[in-house]
Amino acid sequence: MHKSPRLTLGIETSCDETAAAVYQEKHGILSNALFSQIDIHKHFGGVIPELASRSQLEKIYSIVGSALKQAPIPLADIDVIAVTNRPGLPGSLLVGVCFAKAVAWAAGKKLIGINHLEGHVFSSFLEHKVPFDHLCLTASGGHTSLYLIKGFGNYEILGKTQDDAAGEAFDKIAKLMNLPYPGGPVIEQLAADVNFQDFFHYPRHKPKTLDFSFSGLKTAVLYDLVNKNAYDMKTKKFLKEKDKLLKQQVASSLLVCIADIFEQKLARALNQYPHIKAITFVGGVACNKYIANRLQAFAKNHQLLFFTPSRQYCTDNAAMIAFVGNYKAEQGKFSNWDLDIL
Ligand code: KG4
Ligand code: ZN
Repeated sequence: MHKSPRLTLGIETSCDETAAAVYQEKHGILSNALFSQIDIHKHFGGVIPELASRSQLEKIYSIVGSALKQAPIPLADIDVIAVTNRPGLPGSLLVGVCFAKAVAWAAGKKLIGINHLEGHVFSSFLEHKVPFDHLCLTASGGHTSLYLIKGFGNYEILGKTQDDAAGEAFDKIAKLMNLPYPGGPVIEQLAADVNFQDFFHYPRHKPKTLDFSFSGLKTAVLYDLVNKNAYDMKTKKFLKEKDKLLKQQVASSLLVCIADIFEQKLARALNQYPHIKAITFVGGVACNKYIANRLQAFAKNHQLLFFTPSRQYCTDNAAMIAFVGNYKAEQGKFSNWDLDIL
């Protein structure tokens, strides 16, 4: 009997985005629906877990419905439901996993639990054909890691952050200066205003491993602001609200520093793995054009290909989850009904 191309419904609710997408093994992404909770959390300068899970619960039905409708594919034609089950905020993950299980059970579909980070790691494949082996730098609000990717689902972690993620550094430093959440896009804009110059030479930590550390950088920026009489430690207040130039200089110096750190790590990894063919840059921080351009130039200098997803696939999305679900189904790696969150 002729088997039509596999259709996978991906569901992603690990943090503050409710997302669903339909992926077809021959034609790729058919739909990509998303509700972002940024407007809910921006007043607090970060994600409030309780509010995040309540919003997931409210939106999950309509977002999954939109993904099927946009595709347009009736639920009856879906073969596999792939859902993020780790890592993330427990309350948010539970919403997606419970919903996916209920639909899969009621409609007779296969279920696959997906690692959110594996989703990011393979997100470049949604739009590009990336050769193996390659290095993948994943940088988001929750994670900063470097991977060696050998095949679909076949990868090794080479280094990860010991403390804050790169996106978290942008968010926390933005918050120090009363800039809106999320910090990354605002910092990029302020840095562009002053042409991405390095004014303050924040320290580049140089550990001899491939691990990252960004909490020291945040402290260095804080003390530098205190020294410049721009921040009061007692009242925890930013004192130079009207000094736009200072904000631009901090933002620009920070951005150059983080791009330098990424480059240093990639150079170190290349020494250890000289056989690699490409570098990919994924996750929310990969929306940053300055860093992406720097890494692209770095790759070119080393005769390597460079890939980064378009913005909608850099930040959290379900297309990457459906993509991973599709190759896991191909590999026969299905989950049981007792699938739990981690
Ligand atoms: O992948 P993502 O949407 O969510 C997580 O899984 O964390 O990443 C969000 C993070 C935030 O920390 C945000 O500040 C950062 O990505 N981000 C950026 C930019 N756009 C978003 N960082 C630097 N430059 C940007 N343009
Ligand atoms: Zn993410």
